[in-house]
Amino acid sequence: MKFPTFRPRRMRATEGLRKLVRETSLSLDQLIMPYFIVEGMGIKNEIESMPGQFRFSIDQFLKELEELEELGVEHILLFGIPSKKDDRASGAYDPNGVIQRASREIKKHFPKLTLITDVCLCEYMSHGHCGIVEGEKIANDATLSLLAKTALSHAETGVDMVAPSDMMDGRVGAIRRVLDERGFSNLPILSYAAKYASSFYGPFRDAAGSAPEFGDRKSYQMDSANLKEALREIELDLKEGADLIMVKPALPYLDVIRAAKDKFNIPIAAYNVSGEYAMVKAAHAMGFLDEKKVVLEILTSIRRAGANVILTYHAKEVALWSKEAGRQFPLNISTP
Ligand code: PBG
Repeated sequence: MKFPTFRPRRMRATEGLRKLVRETSLSLDQLIMPYFIVEGMGIKNEIESMPGQFRFSIDQFLKELEELEELGVEHILLFGIPSKKDDRASGAYDPNGVIQRASREIKKHFPKLTLITDVCLCEYMSHGHCGIVEGEKIANDATLSLLAKTALSHAETGVDMVAPSDMMDGRVGAIRRVLDERGFSNLPILSYAAKYASSFYGPFRDAAGSAPEFGDRKSYQMDSANLKEALREIELDLKEGADLIMVKPALPYLDVIRAAKDKFNIPIAAYNVSGEYAMVKAAHAMGFLDEKKVVLEILTSIRRAGANVILTYHAKEVALWSKEAGRQFPLNISTP
């Protein structure tokens, strides 16, 4: 036999052979597209630090959803940006708040869409923190009832899943209890279980006007150096009744996704966050990277690390690129 005996390149010789042995698939079914909804009418404002992403008023958002439906993106996550903020986050659990109204309209016009709502208080708080502020501290237990109230108010509008992103201890349990008591025991919770105190959320905070007025989020979001702690957080959330758990951000924490996947027998979601999106867009605008190829490589990597589900601002454009290329999912990542 001629040296070398083993030639892994044989199976890379044609696109057909590569497809045959490809280990990771990427499908639109697995992608969730996040959106920012504002009060008012006729608004579709591009977010400066997130080119291609917009703040929509409800009427404009319904038009966006028609496009999304046409492209085959079936899952969305909503963030609300209220016109008034206060120190009790009243807008978050107002039955006529921006998310509650949006959700009712969406469910009326797009009943099949998977509608997930982010449950957090920071966008609704005048100080921009994710909980009640007492002195200079973020009060954990006092915040739980407001989070549960918020989740319940979303449930009452017909959402398909609630996603708490605040990182208060015990919030999944508090939300589960209230949902169960009020007849929503079938409503799933997607927990942002391992959410790191990350600088990759910068563009999101511009978009939502939710940067904390003082201090930072390090007393509640996780230290980026920790992996074992992420597994403990996930374990706790599962005990409290989380149905799906999330690692966030995605790309700088692929090891966390992998470790979570190996340890827990539940679906894992990963959030390809605003800063990850902004980096790709900025590099593309400079002509430094080919964004289509890079985006597909990034999403494939997140899937390969073990994520079943990816929350990504790229979802819509990926669907568009796929359509333009005349392809069906699963995406063939080696074609333009
Ligand atoms: C709210 C929330 C944030 C993100 C999702 N939910 C911001 C934060 O924690 O400051 C970030 C999403 C992104 O960057 O795309 N707590």
